[in-house]
Amino acid sequence: MNILLVGSGGREHALAWKIKQSPLLTRLVAAPGNPGIASLCETRPVPATDVEGLVALAREMAADLVVVGPESALEVGLADRLASAGIPCFGPTAAAARLETSKAFSKDFCARHNLPTAAFGVFDTVDAAGAFLDAQTAPYVIKADGLAAGKGVVIAATRAEADAAVADMLGGLFGQAGARVVIEEFMPGEEVSLFALCDGETAVPFGFAQDHKRAYDGDLGPNTGGMGTYSPAPVLTDALARRAFEECILPAVRGMAAEGTPYRGVIYAGLMLTPQGPRLVEFNARFGDPECQVLMLRLESDIVPYLMAAATGTLGASPPPVWRDEAALCVVIAAGGYPQSPVSGAIIRGADGPDQGHAVVFHAGTARDPDGVLRAAGGRVLNICASGASLAEARDRAYGRIGDIDFPGGFFRSDIGWRAL
Ligand code: AMP
Ligand code: GLY
Repeated sequence: MNILLVGSGGREHALAWKIKQSPLLTRLVAAPGNPGIASLCETRPVPATDVEGLVALAREMAADLVVVGPESALEVGLADRLASAGIPCFGPTAAAARLETSKAFSKDFCARHNLPTAAFGVFDTVDAAGAFLDAQTAPYVIKADGLAAGKGVVIAATRAEADAAVADMLGGLFGQAGARVVIEEFMPGEEVSLFALCDGETAVPFGFAQDHKRAYDGDLGPNTGGMGTYSPAPVLTDALARRAFEECILPAVRGMAAEGTPYRGVIYAGLMLTPQGPRLVEFNARFGDPECQVLMLRLESDIVPYLMAAATGTLGASPPPVWRDEAALCVVIAAGGYPQSPVSGAIIRGADGPDQGHAVVFHAGTARDPDGVLRAAGGRVLNICASGASLAEARDRAYGRIGDIDFPGGFFRSDIGWRAL
């Protein structure tokens, strides 16, 4: 099979690493890819949002399947365009991806289908938002409606902070993405990321992980895209995972089909494990990053038949995926200044080379000079991952591998996995 993989982060490096292990693979091309992905397969400099460029590339390489990593490509309709070109695509259409790309759509959808989530209101004026806030108590949860690169959510401890967040968003801080704001009830609890593959009609559980969203040790500092993950997460027992799948994911997939926007690809339910049970924080239309990295380390089954079955509507006939009876853990090394203003350009040594024992280095935000020198070129730069018989062993191996890496100015959390350990 010829596969085109779209994206350029650590999530896509992990997908490329796993797809490469498939005996079904003839040729893998990544667009645009990154230096880590380039050590595994061919890369082409076509951006993830260049829909016409990607369709042309898929045709040129006679792709049997296109695997879409990032939501940005889904939002601009890559899956729609591939469908009209007759090329199977792992990833939802723009209409189905609104589960992630519009928080207002997603919350209204949850209400229409009785999915457990926080009470909410959607507003486009400061006065209306203020009136709703009058009826809430702290902490206040304020979200920009559209995609805001992970920065569009404010958990405000005081009413003054909440008012300021509303004014910023409606005032244009995130452009069109903040033209409407969603204000939500605060849900207490531990967060987990639950994944399922969907083929438009059915869904199959596809693992879960726990992320660390805050930048610094002890869950302090600003919110980020995720500083580290581990899987499995003991807090999500088998019974809770089954309940979340049945209460949050299955009705969502059925609801999308019933509304004429069948969902294909991976659905990512961000869950809060509240005293009342699992409740949805959000849906995402893609694999989590860096959740995908630990899932790929733990997945025993060949991933390619699952990606293809989701893309072509044949998941119902697939056996359940098999997971290794091992733990996996991922530590993100970020550039100094992340998430506000990451510093690019530092020279990185010790990240290249073959996988060492049970440790794997995925590239998230790197660039390579023509002479081969590797540099930081993003916020989250490297993902140091490892598996082990226990979570503690996986952690020790991942942090052990970090010891071989020289990245001036880079920083990472030293407590990934603390809740489970
Ligand atoms: P989101 O972009 O919607 O995932 O929100 C970012 C983070 O804000 C989440 O990962 C949660 O930690 C937190 N969060 C969002 N909504 C809520 C809520 N209703 N209650 C509590 N925490 C929330
Ligand atoms: N790690 C969280 C996300 O991918 O949204």
